[in-house]
Amino acid sequence: MHVEVKHPLIGHKLTLVRDKTTGVKLFRELIGEITMFLAYEALRGIPTESIEVETPLAVAKGVRVKGEIVLVPILRAGVGMLDAVMDMVPNARVGFLGLYRDHETSLPVEYYAKLPPATPGAVAILIDPMLATAGSAVAAVSMLKKRGFETIVFVCIVSCPEGVARLEQAHPDVAIYTASIDDGLNASKYILPGLGDAGDRLFGTK
Ligand code: PRP
Ligand code: URA
Repeated sequence: MHVEVKHPLIGHKLTLVRDKTTGVKLFRELIGEITMFLAYEALRGIPTESIEVETPLAVAKGVRVKGEIVLVPILRAGVGMLDAVMDMVPNARVGFLGLYRDHETSLPVEYYAKLPPATPGAVAILIDPMLATAGSAVAAVSMLKKRGFETIVFVCIVSCPEGVARLEQAHPDVAIYTASIDDGLNASKYILPGLGDAGDRLFGTK
């Protein structure tokens, strides 16, 4: 299942984030702002339980989130989305998965994993701005499943048909939320039109 989240403000911010003249500071801010919209949708299905609270006048029926939410950025670019989701879910636990795409082969290389325990009913929100070949996302989901996570949602800013199809084929139980399914990949496996190298633009490494 995948959702391309459409909203005039997402469209506006995504256009700015794609613009090659957008500098590091604005790029970071925009990634955070778009992430909030996506997370709002992606978290719609999290479990809740009924509770009651006393207002100054009466008893009100309400809900509270049930079970753990675990945010998992894929290093390094996923870190650019983390603060925005943590602002929305301040009690979430956070795990980190280190993966980079080999420049020659475009295949993911794992270099770090630090995850909280997968408690019963936990929902893992995997965050990474880019879903290109999906090699990184497929590997990250497999790592989460190996650690016992059963409910996993993948949130990305920009994706492409090849990446969405590959992730859905490898892990059909993972819901994908994205701000855009772009046209496809170029010969170097970068998304077109995309936004370039997300990690480099977030951290100013080029
Ligand atoms: C980027 C991006 C994803 C991956 C997507 O990370 O943040 O993790 O590439 O490509 P894929 O779908 O083809 O696997 P990168 O490997 O450039 O590492 P970085 O975050 O450290 O810059
Ligand atoms: N990683 C990026 O940062 N951008 C792409 O377009 C593809 C992979």
